[in-house]
Amino acid sequence: MTGKQARILIVDDEDIIRRLLGQRLSGEGYRCQEASSAEQALEELRARPAELVILDIKMPGKSGVDLLPQIKTSYPDTAVIMATAITDTHIAIQCMKQGAYDYLTKPFNLDEVSLSVGRALEKRRLELENRDYQRHLEHKVKAQARKIRDSFLGAITALAYALEARDKYTSGHSQGVTEIAVAIAKELGLPWDRIDRIRLAGLLHDIGKIGARESVLNKPGKLTDGEFQHIKYHSELGEHILTPIVEDKEILKAVRHHHEYYDGSGYPDGLKGEQIPLGARILVVADAYDAMTSERPYREAMSAEMACAEIERGKGIQFDPTVADAFLRLAGQRDWLKIKEMPRCP
Ligand SMILES: [Fe+2]
Repeated sequence: MTGKQARILIVDDEDIIRRLLGQRLSGEGYRCQEASSAEQALEELRARPAELVILDIKMPGKSGVDLLPQIKTSYPDTAVIMATAITDTHIAIQCMKQGAYDYLTKPFNLDEVSLSVGRALEKRRLELENRDYQRHLEHKVKAQARKIRDSFLGAITALAYALEARDKYTSGHSQGVTEIAVAIAKELGLPWDRIDRIRLAGLLHDIGKIGARESVLNKPGKLTDGEFQHIKYHSELGEHILTPIVEDKEILKAVRHHHEYYDGSGYPDGLKGEQIPLGARILVVADAYDAMTSERPYREAMSAEMACAEIERGKGIQFDPTVADAFLRLAGQRDWLKIKEMPRCP
């Protein structure tokens, strides 16, 4: 509320001054309230915040000088004009350094009061407008950045899918891993924001394979040590590719560590147990199940029952036992073959 409809609180221990200012300012269309002490002023502000306070410096009890910082802290959008005797103008100037907009000297020249009130309210209006504009701009910039990031992520995810789709053996792998990982995260009772991060990490976990040579990626037989080292680099490369576009460390770490084993024998960092981020521990189980139940050029797809038995066996070695148990509970509740069709979170 600004302009002539603005609410003004007049704080002065002298009735006559409050009445004088009140009459003049009400006559100009302002809505005036009065308080005869600092305590009453705070009560009034609590009940009805004012756009402007005219505050007497000298009052019995708590003075205007003491009240000013309290008003500026609790009601930062309220403009304050100090009222003072001519002999105390140096105190009034100190008050302006603490956030008061102006000061008026007693006895008042009512025209000057009107002018000062008008100026203070106009300055307040401009400051609020400016702040809203800044907020709006920040919001717009953030929304734009989000849009750019989302379209970047969309493009990179599409690229990952396209790479998978070129090979019938890995087609749909990221999607399958994501669905299982999300179901495990839900079973573990994780909050939705973490589940969402795990979903994104699942979709992107093998993005680093973009950098792997196709001849190695699709090699039908056993990989040589050199080729295996080359493939292993994909989890680190995935983190590097995503770092400029994914700010969230939990997603980046889940991608980097999705081949760490619970006993410390995995890669790239040989992390052990709880050192491995939870998102990655979930992805390891989901990744293993999806891989085991998918056909490969060098072997048939494993049955769901056999794959679950492998996960049971790998508890504490490859898999976090808590995560593996959550998965096995889910598997037990569902038709084995439909485990890949677990419901997606909303
Ligand atoms: Fe991988």
